[in-house]
Amino acid sequence: MSVITLNVNGAVHQVDVDPATPLLYILRNDIGLRGPRFGCGLGQCGACSVIIDGALVRSCQLPAAAATGAITTLEGLSQNGTLHPLQQAWIDEQVPQCGYCQNGQIMTAKALLDRNPSPTDAEIREGMQGALCRCMTYYRIHAAIKRVVAGQATGLAHEAVGTAAAAQEASV
Ligand code: FES
Ligand code: FES
Repeated sequence: MSVITLNVNGAVHQVDVDPATPLLYILRNDIGLRGPRFGCGLGQCGACSVIIDGALVRSCQLPAAAATGAITTLEGLSQNGTLHPLQQAWIDEQVPQCGYCQNGQIMTAKALLDRNPSPTDAEIREGMQGALCRCMTYYRIHAAIKRVVAGQATGLAHEAVGTAAAAQEASV
């Protein structure tokens, strides 16, 4: 066991653990975050995804001691009670079915839009291909990402898009 320091969602945590413990276990069991999920435990499904220094990382595969950068989990996307545009778009499009994979879907989409704010349909499909969903929510995931892209991936612009859509619905 040894004490390691983790920077998670802007807060510093010191945990006394076996440094080889997967980061996922520390995030869930020691820090109490429930966004990242244990799916396959083999780096194949994406359910455990977090972002470290801008890079998408499968936390089930990363030893905690190697997580030396700034870690962002699903819980870190909202700011001061305001949902990230991706989270709002997920609600608008009613994306989840069972919900189990959705941490990985949103975090993968976040990493995609951070490196390419205006992806084409093909780029969205390519960027999201590592995040698996047994409930086949892929079409709604795609629609939610496109909704954010249409708002230029900013809360204000997204809100304007949402307001326009609501007005259009009300007029039908
Ligand atoms: S639980 Fe980590 S990739 Fe599946
Ligand atoms: S919503 Fe059920 S696994 Fe994706």
